[in-house]
Amino acid sequence: GKEWTKVGELTESLKDQEVLIRGRVHTTRPVSSKLTFVVLRQSGFTVQCVVSQKPDSVTKQMVKFVSSLNRESFVDIVGIVSVPGVSIKGASQQVEVQVRKLYCISKAVPNLPINIEDAARSEIEIEKALQEGEQLVRVNQDTRLNYRVLDFRTPANQAIFRIQSWVGAIFREFLLAEDFVEIHTPKLIGGSSEGGSAVFKLDYKGQPACLAQSPQLHKQMSICGDFRRVFEIGPVFRAEDSYTHRHLCEFTGLDVEMEINKHYSEVMDIVGRLFVTIFDKLNEKCKKELEAVGKQYPFEPLKYNKDTLRLKFEEGVQMLKEAGVEVDPLGDLNTESERKLGQLVSEKYGTDFYILHYYPSNVRPFYTMISHENPLYSNSFDVFIRGEEIISGAQRVHVPEVLEERAQACGIDVKTISTYIDSFRYGAPPHGGFGVGLERVIMLFCGLNNIRKTSLFPRDPLRIAP
Ligand code: 4AD
Repeated sequence: GKEWTKVGELTESLKDQEVLIRGRVHTTRPVSSKLTFVVLRQSGFTVQCVVSQKPDSVTKQMVKFVSSLNRESFVDIVGIVSVPGVSIKGASQQVEVQVRKLYCISKAVPNLPINIEDAARSEIEIEKALQEGEQLVRVNQDTRLNYRVLDFRTPANQAIFRIQSWVGAIFREFLLAEDFVEIHTPKLIGGSSEGGSAVFKLDYKGQPACLAQSPQLHKQMSICGDFRRVFEIGPVFRAEDSYTHRHLCEFTGLDVEMEINKHYSEVMDIVGRLFVTIFDKLNEKCKKELEAVGKQYPFEPLKYNKDTLRLKFEEGVQMLKEAGVEVDPLGDLNTESERKLGQLVSEKYGTDFYILHYYPSNVRPFYTMISHENPLYSNSFDVFIRGEEIISGAQRVHVPEVLEERAQACGIDVKTISTYIDSFRYGAPPHGGFGVGLERVIMLFCGLNNIRKTSLFPRDPLRIAP
């Protein structure tokens, strides 16, 4: 059989050649009973196809049939590539296909709940169209999510999930090259791994259990098992109560855990180098995708330095204070002060990506190592993009007695994590690690305003479908 050509690969170099292409009917524009245009779309790329009775390459019935095809129907086309003298509006490819044969593979219903063209427009384009009196329905987020398979078909969404795929690939490639082992920890566990109430409880054959809030306990136990350096890409479950732009009930966690020789800065070194590599490679490999996202959702490219900035929590508090924002020096920063600090850091140091470390002890989870220099502080850090958290990490307690004490103090029933605590009784190295929220990385790298845009099928407090 004949080879298939991708719509995105239709260029002038194929002039006069016969091609076989597949795609969806993006739009049809009947001109007369003898001529109709159909724009074919495949993975966000579009090409104008000409169905013309002249020079009698197709029948009159064929022109009629094509004119009546519903949008989004799937078709196969055999045609000849031609180069029109004028630029083609409404198609990404600047060549046309003169249709010889057209087969409808799958018909779409006539009234789609989402019009893909409308769903792909930027806010500016919508405003302009409305001013010009165009009939247009703004596609709201819930409609998009309800009909996600249609919503996926816009160029921006095609790009977002390709970028997401690259982040996972670059993360894995970087860590494998640094001698990390990829692990897969259980998602059904006996107790909460992060403390607190945000757990999905379930019945495990008559025993109480829950969905893992993180791979925290098991990634540390892997370190106790001599793997030295591990990472995981997997689902994380949080029974969030609040409905926000950045919280999901299920997200993808990129987790890392490693032995530490001397200082928790070794973990921050990995964070810095890993993320500079991710950003560099995205800018290199995803140019088209970043452009497609920016076309619908304009954003400033991320500013970052080769050496990742590290600020101590105290310094952050000081910067905020100087800017007139008072925060508790031994408390946590709220969303608003994190944003503000992000702005201040961006102005002062010219980066949208930085690490804030040496956090107050009492705002960190029970497994966090308290500083030997000053017990009010801990060997822990958060990482921010554009003033929003994407990572938290720390050195961990590896002394079982201390761990037990800390868990109790944090109100955790130590019976539910006894096997975890016991792991440290057989000899355990100093270690630390961090957890990244994948959806947040893409959201903030692309300056998007809602995490639902970067989650394939988001789960939030109000949504478990589709
Ligand atoms: O800050 P978190 O809760 O830290 C942990 O889970 C630790 N076990 C990590 C470690 O190794 N010390 O979650 C880590 C990251 C956050 O920085 C955030 O990016 C993301 O996971 N995250 C969420 N993303 C989406 N929806 C939610 N509800 C999230 N909660 C945390």
